[in-house]
Amino acid sequence: MAAREIVVRSVGSDERAAWEPLWAGYLAFYRATLPPENSDIAWQRLHDPAEPMHLLGAYVDGKLTGIVHYLFHRSTWLPNDVCYLQDLFVASDERGLGLGRKLIEAVYAKAKEAGSSRVYWLTQESNAQARILYDQVAENAGFIQYRKAL
Ligand SMILES: CC(C)(COP(=O)(O)OP(=O)(O)OC[C@H]1O[C@@H](n2cnc3c(N)ncnc32)[C@H](O)[C@@H]1OP(=O)(O)O)[C@@H](O)C(=O)NCCC(=O)NCCS
Repeated sequence: MAAREIVVRSVGSDERAAWEPLWAGYLAFYRATLPPENSDIAWQRLHDPAEPMHLLGAYVDGKLTGIVHYLFHRSTWLPNDVCYLQDLFVASDERGLGLGRKLIEAVYAKAKEAGSSRVYWLTQESNAQARILYDQVAENAGFIQYRKAL
């Protein structure tokens, strides 16, 4: 059987139907529900060149199979914006193929191209599967997150 073709590229604004199940899978992974309008706003911003939010997809034989969302923001510590990798998700039946790694590396390349010198993200301490990958591609900075709903 021929090796399957893996391509990482930006996801077009006409591809929402392919993005939606992956986004839903990601939210379900976190047992989160969002008002549908929040997803509408996110999708719109991810395709608005005036917004600092971006989206890449991993395609296996042409099928959107993994997604990553990232955004740039100011830092008091650095002159250039830093890159926050907010959401990463690969379809459950296609994990372990290297898509997660390719998506993270693609964000590194985009951030570098944009003049950013740091990419960072958060994960739950208990997310053992994701941390197998993260421990290979980045450093655990040892922070814990505090959060307060307002
Ligand atoms: C985290 C996640 C994006 C990783 O995606 P992925 O495409 O499986 O990642 P990769 O294939 O690049 O790397 C996974 C690593 O775990 C290893 N692994 C071992 N068994 C595995 C399995 N059954 N499934 C997945 N990965 C496995 C892989 O071999 C690989 O390590 P390696 O590079 O040493 O081989 C994916 O597991 C996911 O979507 N999880 C649910 C959502 C989530 O946790 N998102 C991140 C929140 S911070």
